[in-house]
Amino acid sequence: MSKGEWAEVRTLESYIGKEQRLHSKSRGVFSDLLRRIGVATKVVGSHVKRAGLLNRHGIQTRMKTVEESPGEFSDLANNIMKSALQWLPSVVGLASRDEDGVVPIPEKKGTTDQYIVLFDPMDGAWNIDTNASVGTIFSIYRCLSAYDRPSYDDFLQPGYKQAAAGYVMYGSSTMFVFTTGQGVHGFTLDPEIGEYILSHENILVPDEVKCISTNTSNSGEWDEPTRRFMDTIVKGEDSRYKKTSSRYIGSLVADFHRNLLYGGVFLYPANVDTGESKLKLTFECAPLAMLIEQAGGLASTGRERILDIRPVDLQQHVPLVIGNRTEIELYEKLVRDHDVETGTKKPSIPPPPSSFPPVHS
Ligand code: F6P
Repeated sequence: MSKGEWAEVRTLESYIGKEQRLHSKSRGVFSDLLRRIGVATKVVGSHVKRAGLLNRHGIQTRMKTVEESPGEFSDLANNIMKSALQWLPSVVGLASRDEDGVVPIPEKKGTTDQYIVLFDPMDGAWNIDTNASVGTIFSIYRCLSAYDRPSYDDFLQPGYKQAAAGYVMYGSSTMFVFTTGQGVHGFTLDPEIGEYILSHENILVPDEVKCISTNTSNSGEWDEPTRRFMDTIVKGEDSRYKKTSSRYIGSLVADFHRNLLYGGVFLYPANVDTGESKLKLTFECAPLAMLIEQAGGLASTGRERILDIRPVDLQQHVPLVIGNRTEIELYEKLVRDHDVETGTKKPSIPPPPSSFPPVHS
């Protein structure tokens, strides 16, 4: 490799270092946190890659049936993420999609740069046994409370306050994709050298709708605006949708990642009868919403911008429509028109409860 070629190789490590140097007052604490997530996800990824071999090699696992293995892997990924993050001096609050409440972590004394990290350790875990892509999603907020004691409000900040968000996709390659509010950058893990290498700088979602992604077996539970939206795209009478294909993996990170690179929309609307949706605001929707907005797209419930929602609960579910700006605006318009036609008022969001479980072990 010549000197010139070497200059082209940018690792996650060097990229984070360069971003840090742009902030003269930075003490590198935030960079350490991102690096630590990078290392933890390499460990998770190495287990995912060997998932199919565990039983063949006679490696002792607690899995007994195929149905149990996704849970097993989620637990493993959850533990890896917790072990990697809980001792970092800057991490004063931790929450996982797979645990109720917050994760109890050691109290940190006298730290000044304090962060709250929320993560979904193994998104799309059901795909593990079919060798399809899965992912880890993370979201980082500054802790607003004074010294060492995160409060309820620190965990339940609206998504627009995220300091960083990203995901790691364990697919044909392992990819680390993140934003700190300065664009979206993707790094591909080079398994030979064990480093994430910058492969996709400044990702912008293309202005075309290659894919429409939703679980169509739920179509009987869609509301009227969702039906109209899907009809518009799938029937393809508008030339913009002539070449749109339906693509759904059932693994949010993988569906999102494909649409981010090719252009498209992912929807998980609420069930019209129950008003319930499946995806979680803090662990899934808000981090992906920050990424898509940084890439030029939008994320909405149909009535609200995802990043504006102040969570009322860590495990709160919200409908999600995410992807190209033009289509998300179209979806919102269909919802608005429908609300006017039917006289529907925007549902009010209840205030958050005033007590919260202890955050330190
Ligand atoms: O929320 C977990 C998850 O597995 C997502 O990764 C995925 O988008 C969704 O659920 C799939 O749900 P369903 O099987 O209902 O389509």
